[in-house]
Amino acid sequence: MNRIVLWGFMGSGKTTVGKLLARYLGWKFVDVDEEICRRSGKSIPQFFQQEGEEAFRTLESRIIRSFSHRFRVVIAPGGGAVTEPENVIALQPNTLMVHLSASPETLLQRLKGVKDRPLLLKGRSAQKNILRLLSLRQPYYDRIPFRVLTDGKTPQEVAQEILTLLPSSVEELTDKSSRLPTRIRMGRGITAHLQDFLQPSSYSAKVLFLSDPKVPALFRLQAKTALSLSGFQVYEKLFSSGEEVKNLSTVEEIWSALLEMKADRRTPVVVMGGGTLSDVAGFAASTYLRGLPLILIPTTLLAQVDAGVGGKNAIHFHSIINPIGTFYFPESVLIDPLFLLALPEKEVQSGMAEVVKASIIASPSLFACIQRNAGEILHRNLSVLEKVIRSAVRVKMRVVEKDPYEKGRRRVLNLGHTFAHALASAYPHLSHGEAVSIGLVLSARLSHTLGWASPTLPKKVVALLKKFNLPTAPPPRFLSNPRFQKALSMDKKRKDEILTLVLPVRIGKVRLARIHPSTLRNFLSEKK
Ligand SMILES: NC(=O)c1ccc[n+]([C@@H]2O[C@H](COP(=O)([O-])OP(=O)(O)OC[C@H]3O[C@@H](n4cnc5c(N)ncnc54)[C@H](O)[C@@H]3O)[C@@H](O)[C@H]2O)c1
Repeated sequence: MNRIVLWGFMGSGKTTVGKLLARYLGWKFVDVDEEICRRSGKSIPQFFQQEGEEAFRTLESRIIRSFSHRFRVVIAPGGGAVTEPENVIALQPNTLMVHLSASPETLLQRLKGVKDRPLLLKGRSAQKNILRLLSLRQPYYDRIPFRVLTDGKTPQEVAQEILTLLPSSVEELTDKSSRLPTRIRMGRGITAHLQDFLQPSSYSAKVLFLSDPKVPALFRLQAKTALSLSGFQVYEKLFSSGEEVKNLSTVEEIWSALLEMKADRRTPVVVMGGGTLSDVAGFAASTYLRGLPLILIPTTLLAQVDAGVGGKNAIHFHSIINPIGTFYFPESVLIDPLFLLALPEKEVQSGMAEVVKASIIASPSLFACIQRNAGEILHRNLSVLEKVIRSAVRVKMRVVEKDPYEKGRRRVLNLGHTFAHALASAYPHLSHGEAVSIGLVLSARLSHTLGWASPTLPKKVVALLKKFNLPTAPPPRFLSNPRFQKALSMDKKRKDEILTLVLPVRIGKVRLARIHPSTLRNFLSEKK
């Protein structure tokens, strides 16, 4: 597909959604009305008044035809352009044609106060004009191959839905030589093709589908439809995610659901959610009947680059972060970057902390890539996001491949996490990614204090994390917080009071270091 054309009534969101689509795809956006104003040097009301509607339609058609050979472009023709069949025909080849529709009530609401739409303001009331024009244009809109309803949806959600209509291609992220039982694949809109990755003949006829109400309904529906069409009986359970969900009562709820549906050892558990849901559901699936087939569809950036890959899960216990969990590899991980388009900004920032972590551990080129492309990442440019996800997943999986059960080298993936877990225990308002961000800075500073890293290393790390609005210093007086102290003393990486910490030596290289409690105390007391 070379183009996307958005047809629709004024107020249907063509310009807002079109600009978003162009941003996500890295394409150009053309608003035909704006182009008319630019070429004629007149505003739309002036043009109508001085030259009339017929001249307007002629120029509009000429402009539309001039864009019919452009590639990588999102075009939003004016609301009435659809009534000229030649306009539609000119744009049709290799184009995703979408009608953005909205109810008259929504249109009226969105067009309140608008002064530059001559056909809306002509004679009678705006409401009557909307109804009359809609009934005239509806038969034309009905001929557009795809229709997306915009009522009650954010522009991001509408753009996300449109992008699920584009043909998808699937990329294998698993190394060919991998001996791990997980296959990781990435593709825009991969969720709608779930059936391709779950051969019913390998499983029992029932599937437990676990998700989160905040995951856009469209994706949940697509996944359930794909499962049903391939013959599974789908049992669904939704959990409101967040750190609070990672506890024993959620595990019990999942076990109970499995018991009620009479799950057997080949009953797959499909999890579509962020890292908290995949952690708790992964734990429940790994323990029920000593392990059920697990398929993860991570829906946050953090889960796509880290929590959803690597075969670890965990729940919190007595305010301690992640002390209970198993190593359990999912059969499949399906990464759909389209989830990230409607993800709150804060969650993208949070996910970037784990990406920065991966780059510090083993990839100077990933570090440089995110330094260069911070703006594009936050603007959700899909190609850049895919590049970042691909690199971060590869960094993690190369380490996991060599040491799946964390006997040695895999511990490097905990860079920043000793501090992060202690901070998250003491300050629940910090998200996992925010706590990791502070943990990365403390690790880089400690490394410098111990003489293993140059002073520029912590500076570089801080500067990069700040590009994603991540915190880079612990809260005031954190060292005297008893919960911080308790969590630090309970860390999984300690032995005989000596903590093993991962410390960066330079970007792309880390080392494991045994740190005496007094060294750590002295270092932290300088940071409080
Ligand atoms: N197992 C591992 O190897 C591993 C590695 C890193 C982190 N983790 C764990 O991951 C957890 C953090 O994961 P997270 O950052 O994904 O948090 P999360 O699961 O709490 O998700 C963040 C928020 O985004 C919402 N959400 C999820 N998908 C969405 C979507 N597509 N659109 C809109 N909203 C959406 C959720 O409801 C939640 O409010 C922590 O508990 C951490 O311990 C595990």
